[in-house]
Amino acid sequence: MAARKAAGAVYTPDALAGLVVARTLATMPDPPAALLDPACGTGHFLVAAWRALRQRWTGGPPPVARLSGIERDPAAAAACRETLLACAERDRVELGARPAKPRILVADALSHECDEQEGRFDAVVGNPPYVRIDRLTPADRAALAARFGPWLAGKWDLYHCFLARSLEFLKPGGSLGFLTPNQYLLGRSAARLREQLATTAEIAEVVDLCGLEPFDRAIPPAAITVLSRRRPDPGHAVRISAVLPGQGRDAPPPDGRDVVAAIAEAPVATVTQARWQARPWSVLAPDPFLSWLDRLGAPRLGDVCPRMTEGDTRRAEEKAILPAALAPPDWWPAVRGRDVTAAGLAVPAGADRLPPPARPAGPRVLVRDVAPRLVAAPDTGGVRCLRTVYCLALSDAGQAAGLAALLNSDVLAWLYIRLFYSSKMSPRAANFRFQSQFLAELPILLPPPSAMGSGLAAWVRDAYRVPPDEYAGIRSLLARLRAV
Ligand SMILES: C[S@@+](CC[C@H](N)C(=O)[O-])C[C@H]1O[C@@H](n2cnc3c(N)ncnc32)[C@H](O)[C@@H]1O
Repeated sequence: MAARKAAGAVYTPDALAGLVVARTLATMPDPPAALLDPACGTGHFLVAAWRALRQRWTGGPPPVARLSGIERDPAAAAACRETLLACAERDRVELGARPAKPRILVADALSHECDEQEGRFDAVVGNPPYVRIDRLTPADRAALAARFGPWLAGKWDLYHCFLARSLEFLKPGGSLGFLTPNQYLLGRSAARLREQLATTAEIAEVVDLCGLEPFDRAIPPAAITVLSRRRPDPGHAVRISAVLPGQGRDAPPPDGRDVVAAIAEAPVATVTQARWQARPWSVLAPDPFLSWLDRLGAPRLGDVCPRMTEGDTRRAEEKAILPAALAPPDWWPAVRGRDVTAAGLAVPAGADRLPPPARPAGPRVLVRDVAPRLVAAPDTGGVRCLRTVYCLALSDAGQAAGLAALLNSDVLAWLYIRLFYSSKMSPRAANFRFQSQFLAELPILLPPPSAMGSGLAAWVRDAYRVPPDEYAGIRSLLARLRAV
């Protein structure tokens, strides 16, 4: 398994490969004359493509003759070739097609040895290898960074390079359908990849499978992306949908059939591609939602609290932490994420202790880093915060109670999910990991003191002018996530 993981070799359930192929071919006016899987493994996508082409075959080059694969592992490539030979034999016997040889190249698809394949394919499909940058050798990392630099940033992944490379393999106007981790939709390290895709390709469809586990448990949540290599129209509408936790089956059987049913049932909306660019590609934020947000014109949390830190202690200080019984009496309790509750800070009497800070912290709101929904509390003073708490510094002490109450409201919980639902949102993780880069983007309308108390929920709903039909959706979405 470790070797397979290092090579990013995890094979796709047949039904899911079939769905990706079908959605890719649906964007094309004619069946492709040449289709490539640039990391074909033992051939799951190529067999799915063979099935689809066979159904539409009316003569001409036999289905297998239209298929090409690239695979670095000679054993997987040989297995793929065998399987496709059997497919060709069936076409010969059952369709009367002429004998065909599969074209499976044993090569590194990202290297110059495959440059000849550039611009040759009407369609590219597959499930490219996922290998995080820190698992690549320094030499590979440097070579890929030099080759695909404009597409990469931060902690990039090998599949980012495969997306870039596959666009090179396509003819202008050709279509691509990939299954990848959904991380690229929202993650900061994929900002350049998103910008490149949004400006060089027309995105037909993105389906986020965050609520499904199509593979084994070691694999991150996935997304399907279908796009065409052409300059996008400014008004081009992308189809977006998501299979959320609790909506599909948590542990579908390995053949993936239930995955296909869950994807077919997921509600579809559209978003104008020009709105996306390098911004997070939230598939839960379609055009009407984004227009409403624009009209709201609210300042962002990052403007209200320009200083947002993970905890207020340096690592060296954290090492000095002592149990309450051993700490000097003037040391302060250390706050952990779980001590931040919507009802206020709840630091246990026996909490570990840290020395008081060199400088007083000033007014602030504390936010738990991992929780089923946003949880915030005003700082009551006299506490130190560990890294599981975001500290939001305020210039005005009078704002703390209002801001904490606002962040605890259903409307803000829902806004965070719609805009930045996390790749951590999966059947395995009942919690979100909130991220400061996303928290900073939340639109903030601070409630006045007169709105605090039992009327707060109504005040927030009115102030944010939440469309009534959306409000019903808010409550059911939050209830479903809590039940996960
Ligand atoms: C995630 S698997 C997917 C295989 C197949 N597309 C499927 O879904 O069943 C990725 C495959 O890419 C291959 N691979 C990894 N790096 C490669 C490279 N640079 N060029 C070609 N193939 C590569 C691995 O050996 C592995 O078989």
